[in-house]
Amino acid sequence: MANPGKGTFLITGGLGYIGSHTVVEMLQRNYNVVVIDNLSNSSELVLDRIASICGRKPVFYPIDLCDKPALEAVFAKEKELQAVIHFAALKAVGESVEKPLLYYKNNLISLVNLMDCMIENSVNNLVFSSSCTVYGEPDVLPVTEKSPVKQAISPYGNTKQVGEEIIHDTTQSSQLRSIALRYFNPVGAHSSGKLGELPLGKPNNLVPLITQTAVGIFPFLRIFGNDYSTPDGTCIRDYIHVEDVAVAHVIACERLLSGKGENYEVFNIGTGTGYSVLEVVKAFEKASGLNLPIQIEERRAGDIEKVFADTSLSNQILGWKATRSLDEMMSSAWVWQQSLINKE
Ligand code: NAD
Ligand code: WQD
Repeated sequence: MANPGKGTFLITGGLGYIGSHTVVEMLQRNYNVVVIDNLSNSSELVLDRIASICGRKPVFYPIDLCDKPALEAVFAKEKELQAVIHFAALKAVGESVEKPLLYYKNNLISLVNLMDCMIENSVNNLVFSSSCTVYGEPDVLPVTEKSPVKQAISPYGNTKQVGEEIIHDTTQSSQLRSIALRYFNPVGAHSSGKLGELPLGKPNNLVPLITQTAVGIFPFLRIFGNDYSTPDGTCIRDYIHVEDVAVAHVIACERLLSGKGENYEVFNIGTGTGYSVLEVVKAFEKASGLNLPIQIEERRAGDIEKVFADTSLSNQILGWKATRSLDEMMSSAWVWQQSLINKE
């Protein structure tokens, strides 16, 4: 049931990992939510999980954003939209190197179609999922939003850079206003234990690989290099709880609706603290009470040695701050993994 008097937000990719957590945050704040997702990396069952947490489902359209007539039909039907949060994208870095056109088509045509429909229908507020990948290997740490955007290492990373440019240019010549959120490394799962990451096939990212190793899907965790110039030799990242990332989207939408700020703004979404791969493994072992089998291997091509965020701008201007610890990230990821195994 829609809540009259509360804003209505379109969330693309709203059944995916970060999108589903954001849908929950929005519904729990009594906003109305419309989701578009083509289910290419998610399942319609996520709608039931959302309903079991919030007591209601978002309106759902199972369409592909590259299908412009289908998207136009959604905008023709949903007349109350006040803002769009655009999560929908393909995100596997390695796959993007093998299939660049798939990534350019999916991630950029969908963005252009979406912005066209927004402008045609005077829906003038857009929150965009960007990534710390735009900073590449930074010269100075922590990275601020003014740190240089380095040449992209992968077609995936390039879709984020070009996506930001497309949005920036459009906000300079239309009524469209936008906030790009550059997430660092979102991990963990919902505190209810009912939502989390559902990687199809073999995961690429560290935390799902840790939890899947812990339940015996893999014999050991491969650690890609321990000869980096870091205290324990393993790479450093700014891991951030997915629920903190979700909250940042609510705040970004509210900022756009308030009319505050410039037409186009960029914020880092991280904790500001970097942890090494071995520190993450230790935190997982503490959360689970298990010993995780590991094997040190060669460096992975394209890995950044260390990156973590300067969050002053998002703390002070956006008014958002990450609140959940690495221990909470690991314990929620572990609860989620166990719930998946118990279902099998
Ligand atoms: P995800 O794959 O779990 O979610 C993306 C959702 O978009 C999926 O449900 C998928 O089915 C849908 N989708 C993809 N292409 C679509 C299309 N053409 N039309 C309709 N739906 C489509 O990914 P996620 O981890 O939740 O990431 C969300 C966003 O955040 C992405 O834009 C990603 O690039 C960005 N991001 C993610 C991370 C991360 O580590 N997870 C880090 C930085 C940025
Ligand atoms: C984290 C650390 C690995 C797996 C990727 C994308 C980036 C962004 C976030 C979207 C690294 C190490 C990993 C393993 C390991 N996504 N590792 N063994 O590479 O920081 O970023 O996701 O925008 O664009 O590139 O994340 O989770 O893959 O790796 O030792 O089996 O864990 O070397 O240091 P990454 P990750």
